Amino acid sequence: MNERDTLKINKKGHLEIGGMDAADIANQFGTPVYVFDESYIRKMMRTYRHAIEKHYGGNGLVLYASKAFSCTAIYAIAHQEGIGVDVVSGGELFTAIKAGFDTQKIYMHGNNKLVSELELALDNKIGTVVVDSFREADILNELACERKIVQNVLIRINPGIEAHTHSFVQTARTDSKFGFSVSDGAAKEIAAYILTKKNLNLQGFHCHIGSQIFEKQSFVLAAQKVMDFCADVKQSLGFEAKTLNIGGGFGVWYNDEDPKLKPDDYEDYLECLIDAIKEKAEKHSLKLPYLVIEPGRSIVGEAGITLYTVGAIKEITGIKKYVAVDGGMFDNPRYALYQSKYTAILANRANEPCTEKISIAGKCCESGDLIAVDVPLPKAESGDIMAVLTTGAYNYSMASNYNRNFIPPAILVKDGKAEYIIKPQTYDDLIRNDVVPEYLK
Ligand code: LLP
Repeated sequence: MNERDTLKINKKGHLEIGGMDAADIANQFGTPVYVFDESYIRKMMRTYRHAIEKHYGGNGLVLYASKAFSCTAIYAIAHQEGIGVDVVSGGELFTAIKAGFDTQKIYMHGNNKLVSELELALDNKIGTVVVDSFREADILNELACERKIVQNVLIRINPGIEAHTHSFVQTARTDSKFGFSVSDGAAKEIAAYILTKKNLNLQGFHCHIGSQIFEKQSFVLAAQKVMDFCADVKQSLGFEAKTLNIGGGFGVWYNDEDPKLKPDDYEDYLECLIDAIKEKAEKHSLKLPYLVIEPGRSIVGEAGITLYTVGAIKEITGIKKYVAVDGGMFDNPRYALYQSKYTAILANRANEPCTEKISIAGKCCESGDLIAVDVPLPKAESGDIMAVLTTGAYNYSMASNYNRNFIPPAILVKDGKAEYIIKPQTYDDLIRNDVVPEYLK
C-alpha cells in the first residue's frame, strides 16, 4: 500500500482519498469515475515552484504539462498557483484560454502544429511557441508578420540523451520525430535560420528527454549538454540563450517496482539539475538562463485514482482469473499500449490481505482490454469497489469512446468534499455529432 498522505485506510477499513471515503464517492457519483485530490496537485505545483525559488532565486517558471490531464479546472488550479502551462494542441490551448489562463504563461509544443493552431496561439497572445520544424518557423514568422507582432520562440533540440525509467543512453544522434539534433548540426542550423526571421524572437532552447524517469543523472546530463550547446551557439552565432526549458519527465510510483518519491525528492532532482546549469554557466561564461521545467505526470499522476465496480469474475482453471470492471481501455489504455503496471485495491475492503493474483479486465470487446495483469488482490466479489491507483496522468487525457462507452467523469476532492470537474457523458453526447445522410433515411 502506498503511504502518500492523499490515500489512507479509514476506521471502516475503506480506502480514503483526500479525506473522502472512496466507497462513498462511488455511491454518490457512480463508477467508473476518476477522482483527483486537489491538495496533492497543489502540493506538487508548489514543490516545483519553491524549488526554483530556493535554488535558483526564482529565475524561472514551472509549467504544468497539461497533456497529462487537461480540463478547464486543472488550468484554473495552475493559474491560482502562479505557474504556467504547456499545451500541445489547439484543444488544450482552447481549454486553457477558456479557463482564463494568463496566455503569456503558455508554451506551445508540437512537432506538426497546424496553421489553425498557430493562429489560435497568436490571436490569443500566447507567451512562447516551441518551434519544431523549418516549416513551422516559416509559417509562424508569416503569421506574426501579418499580425504585426514579434513572437517569442524556443527551439526544441535533441541533446542525444534517451532516458528510460531507471536508465538512460547517450546517443550520437536521436531518431526522434521531435526536435533538432545537436550532433548533426541541425539544431544550430535552425537557430541561425530563426535569427534571420524578423517576426520571431529567439529566446533559447528546449529539450525533453523522456517520461517516467527516476535516474537523476539523465536530467543532469541533459542540462549539461544543452548548456554546452548554448556555449557553442554563442561562439558561432553570437546568440546567447536567455531561456532554457528542460522539459518534464520526473517519475511517479505505480507499483512496488517504483520508488515512492516525496516532494523533497522532486526538489532534489531540480537542485541537481540547477547545480549542473550553474557549473556550466560558469565554465562557459554564460549568463544564468531563465529556467523552465514542464512536469506533467508527477503533478497529477499520484493525485488521481479510478474507481470501478467489480462485475463478472471468471476463472480459467489453473491458468488465469479475470476480475472484470465497468471500465477498461477506454478510460485507461496504458496497459494495452505500454503494458504499464498498476496497483489495485478493493476500496471497500482495503484492510483485507491479498490472497490471490488476478487480472483486471475491462468491458470492451477486445481481449487485450486489460487494466492490469496478475496483480495481488483480496478475493473480489461482484459489487466490490475497485480502486486503481496513480491514474491521474495520461488516463483521462488518453481516454476514448471506444465501443461507444462513456469516458468517465472526473471529480475533485478537497477537505472532505467532492465536486465534478468533468461531468458524466450521456448517450446523447455519443451521437451528438452523428449525421445520417438523406439517402440513408
Ligand atoms: N514536455 C514535453 C515536451 C513532453 O513531451 C512531455 C511528455 C512533458 C513535458 C511531460 O512529461 P511528464 O512530466 O508527464 O513525464 N502517454 C505516455 C506519456 C507521454 C509523455 C509525452 N511527453 C504515458 O502514458 O506514459
